[in-house]
Amino acid sequence: MRRKNKRQVFENVEVVDAGAKGKTIGKAPDGRVIFLTNTVPGDVVDVQTTKKRKAYFEGVATTFHSYSDKRVEPQCQHFGVCGGCKWQDMGYEHQLFYKQQEVENNLRRIGHLELPETTPILGSEEQYFYRNKMEFSFSDSRWMTLEEIQSDKEITDRDALGFHIPGMWDKILDIKKCHLQQDPSNAIRLETRDFAIKNGLTFFNPRHQHGELRSLMIRTASTGELMVMIQFCDDNKTNRELILNNLKETFPEITSLLYVINQKQNDTIYDQEIICFSGRDHIFEEMEGLKFKINAKSFYQTNSAQAYELYKLTREFADLKGDELVYDLYTGTGTIAQFVAKKAKKVVGIESVPEAIEDAKANAERNEIDNVDFFVGDMKNVFTQEFINTNGIPDIIITDPPRVGMHKDVVQQILKVAPEKVVYVSCNSATQARDLELMKEAYKVVKVQPVDMFPQTHHVENIVLLKKL
Ligand SMILES: C[S@@+](CC[C@H](N)C(=O)[O-])C[C@H]1O[C@@H](n2cnc3c(N)ncnc32)[C@H](O)[C@@H]1O
Repeated sequence: MRRKNKRQVFENVEVVDAGAKGKTIGKAPDGRVIFLTNTVPGDVVDVQTTKKRKAYFEGVATTFHSYSDKRVEPQCQHFGVCGGCKWQDMGYEHQLFYKQQEVENNLRRIGHLELPETTPILGSEEQYFYRNKMEFSFSDSRWMTLEEIQSDKEITDRDALGFHIPGMWDKILDIKKCHLQQDPSNAIRLETRDFAIKNGLTFFNPRHQHGELRSLMIRTASTGELMVMIQFCDDNKTNRELILNNLKETFPEITSLLYVINQKQNDTIYDQEIICFSGRDHIFEEMEGLKFKINAKSFYQTNSAQAYELYKLTREFADLKGDELVYDLYTGTGTIAQFVAKKAKKVVGIESVPEAIEDAKANAERNEIDNVDFFVGDMKNVFTQEFINTNGIPDIIITDPPRVGMHKDVVQQILKVAPEKVVYVSCNSATQARDLELMKEAYKVVKVQPVDMFPQTHHVENIVLLKKL
């Protein structure tokens, strides 16, 4: 029998908190939590529930009785529809407050950790236009507004280049201006879209998996270099060259113009051949005199300015004296490894993406750093006792895993190796807390430093320093 999910209305609900997955929080008359999407803490609203569970409701505000003084005017015309910057209507100082609270709550509630006095979150100087990488999707069936659907007019312009509507894999919002990446990002996206329409190139149809244009990636760098990559599905050489040549002529500042022909079901490019159409197949990012080569598949922190702050804090937490062996787990293109290398005897980096490790090695050579070694493979298979026997017992481990956190075998291996200090950098304090709980019999949390890499969103980075008990 299907469970009835009857919608309910609660009146005059005060929104009291924000955090988990970017949702705001109110209380139902029976004390149950209501997770809301379109409010700011301090608003008083009527709520229509959309989901009912044993311990909580989900809902949306339908009537606003009063607006919170934490509110600010969102800058983006797509706010509320686009899945991107969902906290734009909350003042930045309040965003920071809730991010800090989220980190501390996760460490205490999930990790059951005793925390030292935490340092205030480090806010980002740039609160808009801070991203160095954006990916936009093409679609021939764009998201339409209610007025468009209800109007009698026939809608002929269904092509879109933009972002997925939250929860809808086949609907793309056509973006006019995005506030996340500096220009010429918007100009390139609009030109690509308009030129394609004018010249009859077909946009991807996600349901039937056809169409020429599939996605557009733009990477900017603090060096001024610019990478643009178009992902095609159907392969039409004439049209492909037409649109790429137009980009090349219209934006001579593009230093790396790439494409990929991907006819798989999903649009990840990691198993695809990237072809260089003009310029180089990579760009360079620079930090503290170090140069980092970035190709289309490389991971690089998306907020470059704040990444510098993150790395400086990581290095400060490691507090190296010069005679230590450091392991940099999940090293990516070896950025942290190279960043701390000057202060260490030797750094060993491990990462699963072969291209990233190739870049890490090339970067180290270019930066004339000869006390780093890089190894490729799945962490739990590489970071083993045998590996330690060959490469030495680390004095310090720096670890910066992806959102899912560390595999439990990796945590066990860290405990076995038992370095004096562990610096754990994470973009997901919930999985970080889960991992730290497994380590708490052997390690004490000495410092906690949240860093905001992603203003206008609920995401937050966190650095924890652990010392052996
Ligand atoms: C958050 S990024 C950190 C990268 C790097 N520390 C930096 O700041 O640029 C996580 C990295 O872990 C890598 N990774 C993900 N799963 C992995 C695994 N199972 N084994 C090894 N590396 C993995 C990803 O490819 C990515 O480069």
